[in-house]
Amino acid sequence: MPERTPIILDVDTGIDDALALALALGSPEAELVAVTTLAGNVGVEATTANTLAVLAWLGLDETPVHRGASRPLARPHRDATYFHDANGLGGTELPASSGTVGADRGPAAIIRLARERPGEIVLVCLGPLTNLAIALNVAPELGTLLRGVVVMGGAFEVPGNVTLHAEFNVFADPEAAQQVFSSGLPSLTAIGLDVTHQTAWSRSSWEATRAAVGDPAAKLAVAVCRQAFEDRGLTQTYLHDPLAVAVALDPDLVRNEDAAIAVETDDERRGKTEIIGPGSTQVALAVDAERFLRRFAERLSLHYLVGD
Ligand code: RIB
Ligand code: CA
Repeated sequence: MPERTPIILDVDTGIDDALALALALGSPEAELVAVTTLAGNVGVEATTANTLAVLAWLGLDETPVHRGASRPLARPHRDATYFHDANGLGGTELPASSGTVGADRGPAAIIRLARERPGEIVLVCLGPLTNLAIALNVAPELGTLLRGVVVMGGAFEVPGNVTLHAEFNVFADPEAAQQVFSSGLPSLTAIGLDVTHQTAWSRSSWEATRAAVGDPAAKLAVAVCRQAFEDRGLTQTYLHDPLAVAVALDPDLVRNEDAAIAVETDDERRGKTEIIGPGSTQVALAVDAERFLRRFAERLSLHYLVGD
């Protein structure tokens, strides 16, 4: 058994967060230490309930879940129900979990676990960066206690997906992103739309999987993506969060540029992430999409057609 990588997933479950949880649980080289939640795609009550329900569905309801930020640092919460639907899972009704959240709130749990296992844990942020910004505020030494941080966020050399400028996780809490990208974290990798827009699950693969679905992870993937494919007629759905998890477990999937990142907080360019020169953030600008997609499909028991 290869050495497992201990990870904490910070999520705003959400359709692709659910797929990322399934990928983490289906990866033998991952040790899912805990999951922290926050407001993002939908409100924190829903992201927390969705996370508990997804973990229970996948048979991992022993995984500690810690509820986190209920809103951005300095702005009202703006959700992404236009894509994830009102319940955050594309309208999928999973059985409610009997699981409960841990006593620590998200930021406190991240700090506690990093202190308990110094240098071991990779924190993977799959939603707005509010929890991480709060944790860094109260424990500036966090960066030296974590093995690394991987953030799904930003659009560095491509247009955004909320506005022309901004990717959703950064747009949702630009002040938090600004604090994280300027914090000097010793190991910070940014997985932005530059690479996640090269990794999508196709409708044809979804249909082929639905026709012969058996595995709980595959059933989950078919269910949470149904609305996008059937009701909205999309031909593919981007695997933003699963790619960030895959990179945390296998950094060689992407090619990075070491950069300094500026985050805009003015209204007109809110959430724009710009490379402003050399720096310590590793910005992913290229990805081995084929290798990632095959691994994603294999670990969730999905049908995958080459060149889909
Ligand atoms: O822009 C994509 C990101 O925003 C993903 O994390 C998705 O879940 C949404 O939170
Ligand atoms: Ca997310």
